Amino acid sequence: MAAKIIDGKALAEQVRARVRAEVQELTAAGLQPGLAVILVGEDPASQVYVRNKERACADVGIRSLVHRLPAATSQEELLALIDRLNADPAVHGILVQVPLPPGLRADELQRAVDPDKDVDGFHPVNAGRLLLGQPGFVPCTPAGILELVKSTGTEIAGCEAVVVGRSATVGKPTATLLLAENATVTVCHSKTRNLPDVCRRGEILVVAVGRRELVKGDWIRPGAVVIDVGINRGEDKLYGDVEFASAREVAGFLTPVPGGVGPMTVAMLMVNTVKAARLAAIQGGRG
Ligand code: GUN
Repeated sequence: MAAKIIDGKALAEQVRARVRAEVQELTAAGLQPGLAVILVGEDPASQVYVRNKERACADVGIRSLVHRLPAATSQEELLALIDRLNADPAVHGILVQVPLPPGLRADELQRAVDPDKDVDGFHPVNAGRLLLGQPGFVPCTPAGILELVKSTGTEIAGCEAVVVGRSATVGKPTATLLLAENATVTVCHSKTRNLPDVCRRGEILVVAVGRRELVKGDWIRPGAVVIDVGINRGEDKLYGDVEFASAREVAGFLTPVPGGVGPMTVAMLMVNTVKAARLAAIQGGRG
């Protein structure tokens, strides 16, 4: 039987509707959430992603300010900008779009962001909180992946979950979130032996490696929930990390590319920005 295609756009719209209502309430109380985005250089994919984030902010009522800076901007100038944004009470969330032009050090910039404004969840403090099961900011793509899995009604506790890819931004935090939901989690990478066999164990299979159509239908356990995080530009269209045509014959649920994980990443950024605004209100009240 053909897989049910998970509609990431529709789910993202549901999340955004909830966020929109919350933003209205906060704005009426004098606390309009604000997001600052730092975009350096001309990377075409980043331009598109940042435009999508701006549009999403406008859609839900979050005030967004994009700092578009030339590729020649220095590390010191960026650190000074982040300092200013950290101190600005109208800015609740700060995001440094990656990749950055050569010569700039993303990890140092991410560390400079106040962890309580780190809506990307990339700061080591938030990575540590996630690992320890403490409250903090969860990276947007993994948070969106979890919502997509939950939307299928799958009972995650006790499930065999397989995550292909161990990046700090997607693979590792996704594995941590699934573990926190009591799945039995296997993380695969370039040195994994017999990758197709390991993938076939997954009742939940998340693929985030950036290799066009790596995972074939016969790598998938029949009925599995398959989340395809890949965005690979082909000559004609975008391709996922999963071969869609063969996968849909085997999986129980499958995300499309585009229209699966991507819209949820942006929606979860809106969720994190509202959370940051609420956090600032609590801290302001305390201070
Ligand atoms: N580049 C691609 N995805 C992301 C993201 O979620 N956050 C940031 N900061 N940069 C990205």
